[in-house]
Amino acid sequence: MIRGRPTKLCLVFATLLGALVLGGCEGGQSALHPAGRGAEDIAQLFWWMWSGAALIWLAVMAIAFYATQARPEAHSEAGARWLILGAGVAFPIVLLTVLLMYGLAMMPGLSATADADLRIEVAGEQWWWRVRYQTEEGEAVELANEIRLPVGRRVVLELSSPDVIHSFWVPSLGGKMDMIPGRVNQLLLEPTRTGVFRGVCAEYCGSSHALMKFEAVVMPVDEFDSWLAAQAQPAQPPQDEAARRGMQAFARNGCSACHAIRGTEADGIMGPDLTHVGSRLTLAAGILGTDVDDFTHWIAQTHRIKPDAYMPAFDMLPEQELRDMAYYLSELE
Ligand code: CUA
Repeated sequence: MIRGRPTKLCLVFATLLGALVLGGCEGGQSALHPAGRGAEDIAQLFWWMWSGAALIWLAVMAIAFYATQARPEAHSEAGARWLILGAGVAFPIVLLTVLLMYGLAMMPGLSATADADLRIEVAGEQWWWRVRYQTEEGEAVELANEIRLPVGRRVVLELSSPDVIHSFWVPSLGGKMDMIPGRVNQLLLEPTRTGVFRGVCAEYCGSSHALMKFEAVVMPVDEFDSWLAAQAQPAQPPQDEAARRGMQAFARNGCSACHAIRGTEADGIMGPDLTHVGSRLTLAAGILGTDVDDFTHWIAQTHRIKPDAYMPAFDMLPEQELRDMAYYLSELE
């Protein structure tokens, strides 16, 4: 009885720990709660691997228990040799080969990018995501830190980077893929249910690496089509005096050197396109919301919020001017 107690305690502890760890695997950023074809395959692979590892662990524990508690005396040489050859050489070779084959067989399906319904270019910038849709009219729609996808469609992301290596990852939708300067990597996503899923950069890329998040929004197909048509429209002109002042301040302070607002004279390409920035879910790559206070905070405190971002902070501007600009931008829906 006394011998069995530590083993039982270990099992209870391992089960509790497992339940705690897996309890965190829900929600919009979980590879174990898939919402896309690729993520489903990867989750399945994970469970097979996990089950294989758990079986081996149990077998090793059973043998250790047998050797130390049940029959601690010396074994015959022939018996020991069979145990080493069987359980130490043959068993791992067979099991690992089976798991490897199973994993390799999955790869062609995960990377078949030829027959895509939609292609979206995504570039990893310092530290945000440039997202570009080519519309049928020929004009590109560009946005930042938000990727909208139609449910049930095969979408190929063309991933690139102008400077350093990033890694694109939406755990709920698919696998991760490096974004490497000088080449375009393709990643297939096929969302199976609607929702908002969190994406991250999975490769250390500099001081604000942990501050480049994004949202992948999976929408019904007709909603997606009307969303894209609305995004293709130029920005709406200022509706009131405060927005007009904000627009003038935006031009006066040189913001258009880096930012474009289609339908106005702002046509910079360094920073995010702001044509419909007020309609986005987040600002500063998942850090802030998009109300007037958030815009004000971001424009004045850029480097406190995101160290080493290229955008300079404009905390030298009068409060009213900052708020006018923030209001103008938040109204660009
Ligand atoms: Cu981009 Cu880490």
